[in-house]
Amino acid sequence: MILVESLSDLRSALAQLPGPVGFVPTMGALHPGHASLMRQARAECRTVVVSIFVNPKQFGPQEDFSRYPRDLAGDSEVCRAEGVDVVFLPQAAEMYPPGFATEVRVGPELTDKLCGHFRPGHFEGVTTVVAKLFNLVRPDRAYFGQKDFQQVRVLTQMVADLAMPLELVRCPIVREADGLALSSRNRYLGSEERASALRLSAALGLLVASARAGEPVQPVLDRARAYLEADPAVRLQYFEVVEERTLEPATTFGPGRVALVAAYVGSTRLIDNALLDPEGPDRALAARAPKETLK
Ligand code: PAJ
Repeated sequence: MILVESLSDLRSALAQLPGPVGFVPTMGALHPGHASLMRQARAECRTVVVSIFVNPKQFGPQEDFSRYPRDLAGDSEVCRAEGVDVVFLPQAAEMYPPGFATEVRVGPELTDKLCGHFRPGHFEGVTTVVAKLFNLVRPDRAYFGQKDFQQVRVLTQMVADLAMPLELVRCPIVREADGLALSSRNRYLGSEERASALRLSAALGLLVASARAGEPVQPVLDRARAYLEADPAVRLQYFEVVEERTLEPATTFGPGRVALVAAYVGSTRLIDNALLDPEGPDRALAARAPKETLK
């Protein structure tokens, strides 16, 4: 495994390595969720590249850019254990040199709602950095987690609209044994906050357990929101059931729906989601539905 920082070192390293190239972009503080993307890339590609870059452009002025966890020693271990070939650690000064003036933006239909509503400019930061990383790494396949559902949806649109020559692969959410979705930001949670954070996956479990095609969404969403808000440590931003493709609210359950939640627990912003497909990867969450909320 080699670590490279400069764009020219990345280019020389990649010139020596065989394709197909699998790419996993990250912001570091790597956990088993990130590792699962590397494992899938390793299984499908001859060369695996991971980038670690805490991208300043996707953080708002009041957000956690400066305190975002950084752990290069731990991250190198995770990459080594997954058989990664190249770890790319670009510097902000080289990614965004003075005079950098371009923004890649996917239309407001996908980027103004849900997280985009609460984090203006966030998805423009993501699409701009990911487009640049794609141009630097030139992967055949790029791996993203369903954990950031809207992010994968927005990036899929960017790749399709701009005919980027790669395949984007969406990988399932990795959770702790008790249901909490793994996140680099879970490191911020104290033990009581962590217990409160479990309400997100439990509330999603209620949606999964209740999703019967043709039934109305609203009464179930009301119960799920009430369950979340019953804990004063949880400050809900949104809890919605939307169409996977358009991200438009769905009024009835049925195929191609996803439930999405974002909330602050203490000062930590968490997101989670579940595909409302009885045969899908999130069906096990139904067992997490709080008993008192089930009808
Ligand atoms: P980061 O939050 O580090 O996540 C990197 C990748 O890991 C994303 O595709 C994310 O969806 C995935 N991931 C995170 N938690 C996961 C989990 N519990 N299970 C499965 N996959 C998980 O997302 C970003 O970084 C950035 O926005 C980035 C795309 C790198 C652009 O800066």
